[in-house]
Amino acid sequence: MSEIKKIAVLTSGGDAPGMNSAIRAVVFSAAQFGIEVVGVLRGYEGLIDWETVALDINKVRNINNRGGTILYTSRSERFLQQEYRRKAARNLREHEVDALIAIGGDGTLRGAIAFEEEGINTICIPGTIDRDVSCTEYTLGFDTAANTAMEAIDRIRDSSVSHGRCSVVEVMGRKRGYIALWAGMATSADAIVLPEKWDGNYDSITDAIGKRHADGRDSYLVVVAEGVTDAQQLAEMIREKTGVESRVSVLGYIQRGGQPTAKDRMYGSLMGAYAVEQLRGGKQNRIVAIKNDFLIDYSLEEALDIQNNLMDSFQYELSLRLSE
Ligand code: F6P
Repeated sequence: MSEIKKIAVLTSGGDAPGMNSAIRAVVFSAAQFGIEVVGVLRGYEGLIDWETVALDINKVRNINNRGGTILYTSRSERFLQQEYRRKAARNLREHEVDALIAIGGDGTLRGAIAFEEEGINTICIPGTIDRDVSCTEYTLGFDTAANTAMEAIDRIRDSSVSHGRCSVVEVMGRKRGYIALWAGMATSADAIVLPEKWDGNYDSITDAIGKRHADGRDSYLVVVAEGVTDAQQLAEMIREKTGVESRVSVLGYIQRGGQPTAKDRMYGSLMGAYAVEQLRGGKQNRIVAIKNDFLIDYSLEEALDIQNNLMDSFQYELSLRLSE
């Protein structure tokens, strides 16, 4: 087992609150063992073009509370091609980097797997607001994003109550409905539309709102995960079928920004330090994951095969029972 003397760290894909805590913990942990750290800018793009910054503890002080990522990020199209992965690997070897820590979501994990072929040892840390990396119960950024969405929806509700309207709020999540489920339940939504459960039945939503309207209620909230259905079309359908004036709000990128919650800072710190421990222990090509609230790790290939974060049916059923 060769000693680790120098590591590179990058963030890739959508930025997520908590990424900075992970970077900080990588740098602090590495420093304790005399390991040098290179920060790669703009994810895999910076690896190809060797855009880097030397990181020491002075550079990462006071970043726990910052949203975004101090290393910037990208979704690299070039890294999908082997010639560019080879270039990236050459850069790492030329600069005598022994291993890479890549913080990001599903695309980052797939990039790391492809990179194995070039002989680069990569440890992944799951960071994405979508919580869509199947092997782990938690991905950095989800808690902050769900709280941001909840707070925004609370405000939207104030307005829709004042006007007696229905608010249809679209939240992020890519192909997963976790932000919608959590923000929707936390704001007592009348209906939550999730990619995992959507059967195309608009009537269930319009009927529920129509019935409540007939019973004298006058404001409503529907939370829709992005990509499931057209929020505008849904709002028009609600208006047509129930007579309730309906408005759409798309929350968008505010869900990715802002100060990380304590949970994202804590898990970012734990995962960053754990990744360095893995490298010091001679581990190769792993992903850090959370299971039953404990840190564990899987091989990168194993991680892709695990499909254990299907939406919890009890949570979903409860969201229906508790809808107002
Ligand atoms: O993966 C995080 C995420 O914010 C998704 O929720 C969303 O679908 C996507 O990124 C948006 O990506 P982009 O920043 O490329 O517009």
